[in-house]
Amino acid sequence: MKSLLLLALVSASSAFPLSEQDHFHFKSWMAQHNKAYSLEEYFDRLQIFTDNKRRIDRHNAGNHSFTMRLNQFSDMTFSEFQKAFLLSEPQNCSATKGNYLSSNGPLPDSIDWRKKGNYVTPVKNQGGCGSCWTFSTTGCLESVTAIATGKLVPLSEQQLVDCAQDFNNHGCNGGLPSQAFEYIMYNKGLMTENDYPYKAFEDKCRYKPELAAAFVKEVMNITAYNEMEMLDAVATHNPVSFAFEVTNDFMSYHEGVYTSTKCHNTTDKVNHAVLAVGYGKDNGIPYWIVKNSWGPMWGMNGYFLIERGKNMCGLAACSSYPVV
Ligand SMILES: *[C@@H]1O[C@H](CO)[C@@H](O)[C@H](O)[C@H]1NC(C)=O
Ligand SMILES: *[C@@H]1O[C@H](CO)[C@@H](O)[C@H](O)[C@H]1NC(C)=O
Ligand SMILES: *[C@@H]1O[C@H](CO)[C@@H](O)[C@H](O)[C@H]1NC(C)=O
Ligand SMILES: *[C@@H]1O[C@H](CO)[C@@H](O)[C@H](O)[C@H]1NC(C)=O
Repeated sequence: MKSLLLLALVSASSAFPLSEQDHFHFKSWMAQHNKAYSLEEYFDRLQIFTDNKRRIDRHNAGNHSFTMRLNQFSDMTFSEFQKAFLLSEPQNCSATKGNYLSSNGPLPDSIDWRKKGNYVTPVKNQGGCGSCWTFSTTGCLESVTAIATGKLVPLSEQQLVDCAQDFNNHGCNGGLPSQAFEYIMYNKGLMTENDYPYKAFEDKCRYKPELAAAFVKEVMNITAYNEMEMLDAVATHNPVSFAFEVTNDFMSYHEGVYTSTKCHNTTDKVNHAVLAVGYGKDNGIPYWIVKNSWGPMWGMNGYFLIERGKNMCGLAACSSYPVV
C-alpha cells in the first residue's frame, strides 16, 4: 500500500514516467553493486539511476569517440558525485614558468609505461574521500621509483591525507600532486601502502621516519598549458601527474577517447588529479592513457583515454613529477 502510494507520488512529480523496465534495470544494477536502500530511498535512487541510464543510452546512440555505461556511481547525481569524489575549491595549481627542460628530440608516436616493464601498480580506489591527489602522487612516485630502482612498491596515500597539510593540502578535501611531492621532499620520505594503509578518512599523522620507503630529490613542474612539455616528459622520463576538470558525462565514461565541449580548460577549474602513463593515437585522434583512482571496474579496467594536444579540460594546467 505504502509503496504504491510512494510510486504514485514519485511518478507524478518526476520529469518522466517510470516503467516496469526501469525498475528491472535498477534492481539488476543494485544486485550487481550490492546496493540496498530503504523504501523511500529506493524511489529517489531509481529516479536518479533512470535519469543517468537515459543519458548514457542517448550518448551511446550518437556518434562519439567514447562510450558511456552504468557503473558504481550510477545512483548518484553529478552534484552528489562532485561532493564525494572531486576537489571542491580551486587549487593553487599554476606553475606559470615550470622548471622542466624539454629534450627537443624526436619523440616516439606512442608510449605505454604499463608495457615497458613492471612500472605501474594496479589501479586503486579512493573511496568516498576527495583524495585523488594522493593517488596521483603515489602512482607517479611508485613509477618513477620503479624505473630508477627496478622495484615496484605500492606507496601510502594515507600518509599524504594525514600529514601533508603544511603544503596546502587538505586531506579528503583536496590537494595537488606538486604540493604533495614538495611535502615528501621536505619530510624526507613516504611510507609504503603496507606500513601505512589507506582508510579513506583523515586521521592523525602516524609517519615513522624509520619506515620511509620512497624519496623525492626535486619536484619537476611543467609550465602551465605546455602540453608539449608534458608529452616530452612522459616520452623521455616517466608517467606524469596532472589535473583536469571532470564534468557530468565523465562519471559514466566506459571506453574510447574522452572529449568534451562542456569542461573548462583553466587552472582554477581543475577538480580531479590522475596519472598519465602513456599516449598514442586512434583513428587520427591523439590521446593520453590515464590511470584513475576509482577502482578497476570503472572505465577501461580503471583507466581512461582523453584527447591530447588541445589542453582538453585543462589537463595541461598543472602537471608535475618527482625526481628520485
Ligand atoms: C562520426 O564522427 C566522425 C568524426 O567526427 C566522422 O568522421 C564520421 O563521418 C561520423 N559518422 C557518422 C555515421 O556520422
Ligand atoms: C593557496 O595558497 C595560499 C597561500 O599559500 C593558501 O593560503 C591557500 O590555502 C591555498 N589554497 C588551497 C586551496 O590550497
Ligand atoms: C613546483 O610546484 C610546487 C607546488 O605548486 C611549488 O611549491 C614549487 O615551488 C614549484 N617548484 C618550482 C621549482 O617551481
Ligand atoms: C581554452 O579554450 C578556448 C576555447 O577553445 C581557447 O580559445 C583557449 O586558448 C584555451 N585556453 C587554454 C589555456 O588552453
